[in-house]
Amino acid sequence: MSVAPHAGNGKVTVPDILSRKSPPANESRQTHGKITCLTAYDYPTARLLDEAGVDILLVGDSLGMVVLGYENTLPVTMEEMLHHTRAVRRGTRRALVVADMPYGSFHTELSESLRNAVRFVKEAGAEAVKVEGGERRLELISRLVEAEIPVMGHIGLTPQSLNALGGFRVQGRTVEAAEQLLRDARAVEAAGAFSVVLESVPRELAARITQQVRIPTIGIGAGPDCDGQVLVIHDLLGFTQGSVPRFARRYANLAETIARAAGEFCDDVRSGRFPSDEESFHLPAETRDRVLARLRP
Ligand code: KIV
Repeated sequence: MSVAPHAGNGKVTVPDILSRKSPPANESRQTHGKITCLTAYDYPTARLLDEAGVDILLVGDSLGMVVLGYENTLPVTMEEMLHHTRAVRRGTRRALVVADMPYGSFHTELSESLRNAVRFVKEAGAEAVKVEGGERRLELISRLVEAEIPVMGHIGLTPQSLNALGGFRVQGRTVEAAEQLLRDARAVEAAGAFSVVLESVPRELAARITQQVRIPTIGIGAGPDCDGQVLVIHDLLGFTQGSVPRFARRYANLAETIARAAGEFCDDVRSGRFPSDEESFHLPAETRDRVLARLRP
């Protein structure tokens, strides 16, 4: 498996992402603006997003729902994540490739969690892994960082906690829950993560967390004051089956485009309009008559 391209030539690295932390309001440090992150699960999408200048391509375990048709992210396996991470790696030159550790891959033995994270780097070319959970993941994140694996944290609504949370809801709405979220963010930072995803968190709380940690916050449903934003690519493209969260702005309607194209193809085949003569191959003039004579019924 080929490893990540070398830094330089605009390659986005973990130190670059760390350096993109927004300065406090009273400082005018030069930054490259907000961090952009989109999910990617396959080679052609990774290529297009990379060429469009997206900073981070996250091979999210959301692939279970938007690509593999599972009801939630819990069934996603290491092998599925590795397979898709390799495809994204092959399509990416500039962006930082981050692989999501799926449910079950870091919930049992610490040594097994480390082995699984190492697989993402060694076998799939990921440059970092993402781990859901805050304070509870302190030891795991420190051990991964010690093993030279950069970690992106993920707190707030963590979809792998679906059964424990009882559903997908905005997090941190009470004083206790808000305090816990701030503790989670600080724990992830203290453990050595280079960034943290804040999912479905009230805007005011996300802004406060962003001010109080030194690592970049990357929001999804967490308002505009985070250091960066992430969306699931299928939501952005209008390619998601079923409902999408209200924070997911749709920039295209791929579902409609695909349905229309497939419908037109069916109409054209059934009516004989496809394929046309120009879309067909022909026998060469010099052999045509002989071939047809030989194949006469
Ligand atoms: O799995 C995923 O796509 C994610 C993002 C939504 C942050 O975790």
